[in-house]
Amino acid sequence: MPRYLSLANQTAASPELASAVREIVAKDIDTEFVLLVPATPMEDLLDWQDGDSETIAKRTAQAAKDHLAGVGAKVARTEVGDASPVKAIENELEQHQEKYDGIIISTLPLQRSRWVALDQPRRIERRFKVPVRHVVGHSVTMTREDLINGLNEDLNLELEAILRSVYHAAAGRGMLGHELRELLKKELPSELDHATFLADKIVALGGEVRIRPAMPAEFGAARELLQQNIAAERKVIGNYAKRIDQAAEFGDKGLAIRLENMLASETDHLEQLERLGR
Ligand SMILES: [Fe+2]
Ligand SMILES: [Fe+2]
Repeated sequence: MPRYLSLANQTAASPELASAVREIVAKDIDTEFVLLVPATPMEDLLDWQDGDSETIAKRTAQAAKDHLAGVGAKVARTEVGDASPVKAIENELEQHQEKYDGIIISTLPLQRSRWVALDQPRRIERRFKVPVRHVVGHSVTMTREDLINGLNEDLNLELEAILRSVYHAAAGRGMLGHELRELLKKELPSELDHATFLADKIVALGGEVRIRPAMPAEFGAARELLQQNIAAERKVIGNYAKRIDQAAEFGDKGLAIRLENMLASETDHLEQLERLGR
């Protein structure tokens, strides 16, 4: 009977993967599938998922199994593999020595471009002499509510940047304090732009604007203030990187582009702050 290896993580329960599987089953009802879920590294996991990477992968594998059984596929077994998809496939093929008639690799749209750029599907085909089919799926865990929650978090970080800048610009002493003051004042309009954009976007998505910024820490020496600002910019950059993926996954390309511009502006802020510290 035909046997397929199906590799998926966030897209494991996507309609796109289900329809690819359904097509294969339609040709031979006895086709068996082995589901392979890479253990995603923690830093790549989106922040609404709870638990460690192994637990999440196991949960994903179980959900994927139920999902594919629901479309009439026979699932022989599920495996949690290496965090790297290529390594996961390699290990599976080497350890089990099973003959596969094909490999289905299902990724998110953004991962697709990474895969294609690296030519991974062809590499696997050549190495294991098994046809590889690449399916681009959408995450079923990404909802409008998650995106709105994330944007509210970003909005509050921008508001914190504004409060911190006003406070630190006034509080900085000495030469470094003076330079920091000039820099923070110069960047204030862009932080305000970011905050305004995010609040408007939350409303446009049908969400509720939740303003709850943390207050800036009591001020210390200028060097300490500088370090606080550097740490805050790093956090904002990390959040935007994550949000860009979420926006793309949600299918809002315009938002992803706006967030990319904001990430670029925060990267400028960070670099200028770091230069001050040298
Ligand atoms: Fe900002
Ligand atoms: Fe900034």
